[in-house]
Amino acid sequence: MAAPIIEIRNLQKWYSGVHALKNVSLDIYPNEALGLVGDNGAGKSTLINILSGTQKPDGGEIRLEGQPVRFSNPRDAMDRGIETIYQYNSMVPTMTIARNVFIGREPLKMSVFGIGILDQDRMRSESVKAIADVDLHLRSPDALVGELSGGQRQGVAIARAMHFKSKVMILDEPTNHLSVKETNKVIGFVRGLKAQSVTGVFISHNMHHVFECCDRIVAMARGEIVLDKRIGDTSIDEIHSVL
Ligand SMILES: Nc1ncnc2c1ncn2[C@@H]1O[C@H](COP(=O)(O)OP(=O)(O)OP(=O)(O)O)[C@@H](O)[C@H]1O
Ligand SMILES: [Mg+2]
Repeated sequence: MAAPIIEIRNLQKWYSGVHALKNVSLDIYPNEALGLVGDNGAGKSTLINILSGTQKPDGGEIRLEGQPVRFSNPRDAMDRGIETIYQYNSMVPTMTIARNVFIGREPLKMSVFGIGILDQDRMRSESVKAIADVDLHLRSPDALVGELSGGQRQGVAIARAMHFKSKVMILDEPTNHLSVKETNKVIGFVRGLKAQSVTGVFISHNMHHVFECCDRIVAMARGEIVLDKRIGDTSIDEIHSVL
C-alpha cells in the first residue's frame, strides 16, 4: 500500500467547554475518495477545518507527504495543495466565472506603460479549459456566477481546484440544497477525482451518496472515530449502528 498523503495524529480541539476532537488519528491515502460521516456535532467540520487551515488544533500533528505541517490560514493549505469546497462555496456571485476561477491567483501581464494589469484573455481561455476538463458545460466564461445554479457553482469551484492542481480536495456537505440532478453531478465529480490523481474527502449526511462515490468510509461520533472500513466491507445499517 502507498504511503499516506495525509497523516493525522492525536488531534485535539476544544471549544470552551466542548471537546470537539478527542485524540483523532487518521491516515488518508493518495487518490482515494474518503467519505466522512457522523451526526450533527460529531466533529467532522472541525477536523477538516484544521486540515484546510481555517482552525488551529489544540494538540496533535498533521503530516502532508511525510512533512509536518501547521497551517495558519486557508491560503497556506491551498499553497500546499489542499483545497476545500463548502456547502456555500467561496464564489463571488457578482463576478464572472473566469474571475472566480482565478480569484486570489489572478495572472498579470504588462501594460504598454509597464504596469501589471489583469490578463483577462488568459483568465477567459484557461477557465474555459478548466471547466471543460471537469465535463461541465457552461455558456461563457463571462457569465456571472450569480446566474449559475448551485450545482454549476460547485462545478466551477471543483474546476478551479483541479486547475490549480490540488492534491487533496475536501468537500464539506457540497450537495446540501442542490436538486437531485445537481447532486448527481457533484457525486460524479467526486468519482472523477481519482482519474485526475486527486485525493477526495467527502462529507455528507446522505449515506447513499457516500456509498456511491467513496472507496472508504470513516464515521465519527462525539469527537472520535468509531468506524473506518472499505465501502465493500460495511453497510449503511452498520454505520447507523455506530453513530
Ligand atoms: N466555532 C465554534 N465555536 C464553538 N463550538 C464549536 C464551533 N465549531 C464547532 N463547535 C462545536 O464542536 C462540536 C463539533 O462540531 P462540528 O461542526 O465539527 O460538527 P459536524 O460533525 O461538522 O456537524 P454537522 O454535521 O452538523 O456539520 C459541536 O459540539 C459544535 O457545537
Ligand atoms: Mg459540519
